[in-house]
Amino acid sequence: MCGIVGYVGRKNCAEVLLSTLEKLEYRGYDSAGIAVFDKNNIEVRKAKGRIAELRAKMASEGSPEGRVGIGHTRWATHGEPSDINSHPHSGGNVTIVHNGIIENYKEIKNMLISLGREFVSQTDTEVAAQLLDFYYKGNPVEAIIKAIRDIRGSFALGIIFRDFPDTIFAVRKESPLIVGIGEGESFIASDVTAILNYTRDYYMPEPDEIAVLSPYSTKIYGLNYNQLDKPLHHADWDENAAEKQGYAHFMIKEINEQPDAVKTTVVPRVTDGLPDLSECGITYDMLRGFKRINIAACGTAMHAGLVGKYIIEDLAEIPVNVDIASEFRYRKPLVKKDDLVIIISQSGETADSLAALRLSKSLGAKTLAIVNAKGSSIAREADMTIYTLAGPEIAVASTKAYMVQIAVMYLFAFAAAYANGAISEQRCRELTASLLEIPEKISEAIKLNDKAQYAASTLVNADSLLYIGRGLDYALSMEGSLKLKEISYIHSESYAAGELKHGTISLVTEGMPVIAVVTQKELEEKTVSNMKELKARGAYVIVVAASNILIESDVADYVINLGECDEMLSPMTAVVPLQLIAYYTAVLKGNDVDRPRNLAKSVTVE
Ligand code: F6R
Repeated sequence: MCGIVGYVGRKNCAEVLLSTLEKLEYRGYDSAGIAVFDKNNIEVRKAKGRIAELRAKMASEGSPEGRVGIGHTRWATHGEPSDINSHPHSGGNVTIVHNGIIENYKEIKNMLISLGREFVSQTDTEVAAQLLDFYYKGNPVEAIIKAIRDIRGSFALGIIFRDFPDTIFAVRKESPLIVGIGEGESFIASDVTAILNYTRDYYMPEPDEIAVLSPYSTKIYGLNYNQLDKPLHHADWDENAAEKQGYAHFMIKEINEQPDAVKTTVVPRVTDGLPDLSECGITYDMLRGFKRINIAACGTAMHAGLVGKYIIEDLAEIPVNVDIASEFRYRKPLVKKDDLVIIISQSGETADSLAALRLSKSLGAKTLAIVNAKGSSIAREADMTIYTLAGPEIAVASTKAYMVQIAVMYLFAFAAAYANGAISEQRCRELTASLLEIPEKISEAIKLNDKAQYAASTLVNADSLLYIGRGLDYALSMEGSLKLKEISYIHSESYAAGELKHGTISLVTEGMPVIAVVTQKELEEKTVSNMKELKARGAYVIVVAASNILIESDVADYVINLGECDEMLSPMTAVVPLQLIAYYTAVLKGNDVDRPRNLAKSVTVE
């Protein structure tokens, strides 16, 4: 989704804005722009396309020289990607950048048109700029307070006023925004990764709080124009976390970071060999009280929830519903007081997941967030939060975040099962020990790189393929299929292997690739039968199988065998070849792996 940045200081502002925008490229965008004060004039440069195109435009048109400005990467919502619709947008005295959606923009636009104002773009953002200008009578903060009272929807705004050439203003509702504090300089940004090269200290404004940044001071005000005393946060991420460090893409770097990410997430949550979530506010007593669990999330995070369903129901014997958050929020879910609702989200800002969280709270359920981004909206609003400690995930296609989400699902399931008496202390210790060993098994799975690369080479020319599995392997094949389609642009569907005969098998023709996942011994025979049925109809079958599952040569065309691993934990190793297959297929097709078309990293609109 859109990214916003802003800078006040002594450096060349245009260069700071471009370099911080480059750090937000992972969020997904289709155009970019900046506005910089240059000798009291506001100079705007914007272009459809990548930041490289904006740089090229600035090289030919000249780059503004000032020290104060705002910048934006746009992911089109209102109006096609174009130079005109790119941000920043201006109205009279005011120039702004905006992340989010102004739901009542038409109403406001009509009101402003009736007052004689004219618009040049199709965006909701220009409406906000004009509204701010309409209210501006010499005091920017007052104008902002009045304007945001009128606006419905989500926004993080970076604002400059022509009369205040050394100041930027910012305000948020729903959309993320941080205010970075350096030595004699300050920043705004959609997330902290943008500014890590300049500073690690930052404020996190709450909704409706207004930040005022000048070279002399940074102040944050409430809606009553009262100055607020906010805690200063410090980003403790490894300096290199948001860099590629020699890898060709962030995605492959992040696949390789999975063993460490799991270690960092799991080890502090184990005490004396047993899962311990007390630091996150989850006690064994509390776990005994939940009669039903609902999990709501989107995309890959929802797939992590599906793995959670299988293992929580299997081990803890608590019924679990998994919902796509955008469905959950509109289907009047039967959530009760004794229920736990788990929201899973890497970014912690996904609009539908946040709405599902708020709905669950309003229905009286206890809420648990499993979130990667510290201090994000979902983490802040949930009753309890377990942070996944994967560090920043930059590639749009989620890999390490999924891995740590399922790691937390396991910790939770073990703890809930032990609390309920559904498993013995001995079994809980065994399972926890296996989870502590899993980083090594994931490292072994990463060594299947070459096999995955070969499998990918057989897929590049496919128009469509199927992923199949049963039980946990079905949950996993859904993730494998999503990964492939989002970055390779090859159509794929995942199917419960037993469901194929009920319609989908009619799609299978000579040479159609099928990827089967077989890690559960109990279901081996059934899935293998389904593979035979597919092969008999001409399918080219690739199989990812557990070490104890022998695949005969007449059942599959290509076999990727995993190393030894506790069967219950197999998704954590089996997902790796699926991630690698998706990655190499996209690389072989020459796609922009880290920034696939039309996608955004943090989906802050419905
Ligand atoms: C796919 C992917 C998305 C996200 C989804 C939810 O690789 O990354 O499907 O999983 O948009 O995002 P978060 O986890 O930030 O709520």
